Amino acid sequence: MITIFILLFLPQLKKQTIMIKMVHSYWAYLVLIVLIAAVLNALIGLLTKKDFKAKDLRISLFALIAAHIQLILGIIAYFTSTYFQAMQSHGMGYVMKNSALRKHLVEHPIGVLIAIALITIGFSKHKKKTTDNSKFKTIFIYYFIALILILGVIPWHNWFSN
Ligand code: HEM
Repeated sequence: MITIFILLFLPQLKKQTIMIKMVHSYWAYLVLIVLIAAVLNALIGLLTKKDFKAKDLRISLFALIAAHIQLILGIIAYFTSTYFQAMQSHGMGYVMKNSALRKHLVEHPIGVLIAIALITIGFSKHKKKTTDNSKFKTIFIYYFIALILILGVIPWHNWFSN
């Protein structure tokens, strides 16, 4: 019974896996664009000693939301990926010895998780700051480190060859 069920729904599951991978891949462009915009906006605000206005809050918030959506997509992509299936059948030792598997299953997820945590901490810390300059400074420092981290762990080769 279970086998018939799996055989019936397997093509559907495969389609959803490809869909998630595609959405995760395209959403990454948005995350990078909004994050770069938030970092530049904070840097300009900091250097020109501007007032921290609603527009500045909105840019930082968009970057936070885009990163959190990508986190959810990434977690789904992780457990439905062929990389995860390889880990299940060959074990963690095999994954660590294979650079492509290690990149997708360990380095990329851990790196982006730290980056998204930094964005979240930066956003919540900036709200507690009392001066406009310290708000821009907090957003800039946390978001900039997160951006560098994300750029460092993106599987660039796969992204552009798909
Ligand atoms: C800011 C957050 C993130 C960004 C910018 C990002 C970006 C990317 C990019 C550009 C790719 C390559 C897509 C392709 O090959 O076309 C990718 C693949 C992947 N990402 Fe992320 N990602 C993020 C978060 C996450 C998280 C949180 C996880 C898991 C916990 C994750 C798991 C994966 C996996 C498993 C793949 C390989 C998917 C496959 O080829 O089947 N990602 N990511």
